[in-house]
Amino acid sequence: MRDDILRVERLSKHFRGLKAVDDITFSVKEREFLGVIGPNGAGKTTLFNLITGFLKPTSGSVYFKDRDITRLKSHERVKLGIARTFQVTRPFKKLSVKENVKIPAIVSHRDGKVDNVEEFTDQILEMVDLIKKKDLKAENLPHGEIRKLEIARAMATKPELLLLDEPFSGLTSEEISALQDVIARIHEEGITVILIEHVLKACMALSERIIVLNYGKIIADGSPEEICMDKQVIEAYLGKRGMEFAAG
Ligand SMILES: Nc1ncnc2c1ncn2[C@@H]1O[C@H](COP(=O)(O)OP(=O)(O)OP(=O)(O)O)[C@@H](O)[C@H]1O
Ligand SMILES: [Mg+2]
Repeated sequence: MRDDILRVERLSKHFRGLKAVDDITFSVKEREFLGVIGPNGAGKTTLFNLITGFLKPTSGSVYFKDRDITRLKSHERVKLGIARTFQVTRPFKKLSVKENVKIPAIVSHRDGKVDNVEEFTDQILEMVDLIKKKDLKAENLPHGEIRKLEIARAMATKPELLLLDEPFSGLTSEEISALQDVIARIHEEGITVILIEHVLKACMALSERIIVLNYGKIIADGSPEEICMDKQVIEAYLGKRGMEFAAG
């Protein structure tokens, strides 16, 4: 049995009267690939913000490897091994691809100093297929490669848990398939991944398990196959698409 790497217990975030995350409990196993889906405004990004420390919860707790991290700052969580990407990309546009990855590598170095930053940065750029573009300015990359760069920047902090917020959004089908390979490779390296995504084909293909949020609550938790056939999920989110996925 694999241990839990992340446990979220009775977690809530209220914005005035709005229950963006409403009493959510779930856990994620080491090396698991968990998808998070649900309609716009369901609370997916808010959940990521609570796990990564960008927001403080109204109530409830977050545990990382059995340690209560609810009150830690986001940079402290990065040092423990939690990294994320954002729904809206935010690279340093004027810096090169390589410098974009080097900075988080140097700043986070949670295992003490990174011995050879150059080599480490190159390894990460290889992993995300950006090594040939390393001297380009980030602003000159196409959108699909900006998404890869964001993942590279997160990987530069040596995470054990990687949270991806809609990495496929706005990409062409070729870009989606290239990025899907990169994300699968990262997971194969032994990293636990949580993926928020509306591009369901990619999310279903990558995820071992999916949770579905609706109005801040988990309405389903199961394998992609189970989720596709779940009545409540079809009603709240998938509609006809659920049937199509279920039919393969
Ligand atoms: N800082 C904030 N202040 C007030 N309301 C917020 C804040 N952040 C999010 N919300 C609200 O909380 C709810 C959940 O938002 P969230 O961004 O988590 O949704 P989401 O599931 O990520 O949606 P999407 O799929 O569109 O990205 C929404 O109603 C949103 O308007
Ligand atoms: Mg969101």
